[in-house]
Amino acid sequence: MREVLTAVVTGAGGTIGTCISMRLASIGYNLVIIDNHKSNLATLQSKIHSQHPETHVLALEASVSSSREVINAAQIVQDKFRDIDILINNAGISPKLTDGKRIPTLDIDDQEWDFVMKTNLKSIFLMCKYFFSALKPKKGKIINIASMMGVTGSGVDAHQIFPYSVSAAHYSASKAGVINFTKSLARELSEFEIPVYAIAPGAVSGGMGKFDDGFIKYLK
Ligand SMILES: NC(=O)c1ccc[n+]([C@@H]2O[C@H](COP(=O)([O-])OP(=O)(O)OC[C@H]3O[C@@H](n4cnc5c(N)ncnc54)[C@H](O)[C@@H]3O)[C@@H](O)[C@H]2O)c1
Repeated sequence: MREVLTAVVTGAGGTIGTCISMRLASIGYNLVIIDNHKSNLATLQSKIHSQHPETHVLALEASVSSSREVINAAQIVQDKFRDIDILINNAGISPKLTDGKRIPTLDIDDQEWDFVMKTNLKSIFLMCKYFFSALKPKKGKIINIASMMGVTGSGVDAHQIFPYSVSAAHYSASKAGVINFTKSLARELSEFEIPVYAIAPGAVSGGMGKFDDGFIKYLK
């Protein structure tokens, strides 16, 4: 009999998280979907139930930037599924100005800086730390969703390397942190044959990716 695999996806109720979750359900994974947005989570759960009724889904409303909530989630997941095969750290935020444009770096609010770092970077540390014991027995994989902005930085530069950027400096710095953290953890966890990857998507429409026509035209 084929073994059923289990995946944990954070920020599962968002645009990219929903795509990842639906794809994993379509290839037979059981799913733990985590999000701090209750209605996003409920929408995804009913979508999975209707399109893949055979999938076991555990929906957890939790903030991945809270140690307490991550520890609690890890315990619930281990009680239900015991070990897991894939952890996908996808939850993230990208604050913008009210008109949807990038926040100039020196205008970033101090508290918002901390909030972005906590949500995008500390959350990944917490999830890896507290889900490690569930990943270890099956040599599970960790996939961290970074961003192209974590490589290029944000902003509009005079040399037009990346003339359209809607992400601000705290967002891109947090994603650079995700990429670097991934490298450190990958080195350490190779001993356990647990691979750790970072994926750095470009622009993905929907969710935090609300792009104006000029941006879409430029990309095309
Ligand atoms: N959309 C893009 O163009 C793009 C490009 C590169 C990288 N990314 C990255 O992809 C990931 C998903 O982005 P998206 O476009 O689907 O955004 P989205 O806003 O649609 O989804 C993000 C999800 O994360 C959840 N979330 C936020 N903070 C959380 C927390 N503390 N605890 C639990 N859940 C939390 C939100 O409720 C939401 O459902 C993010 O990490 C983002 O930085 C997106």
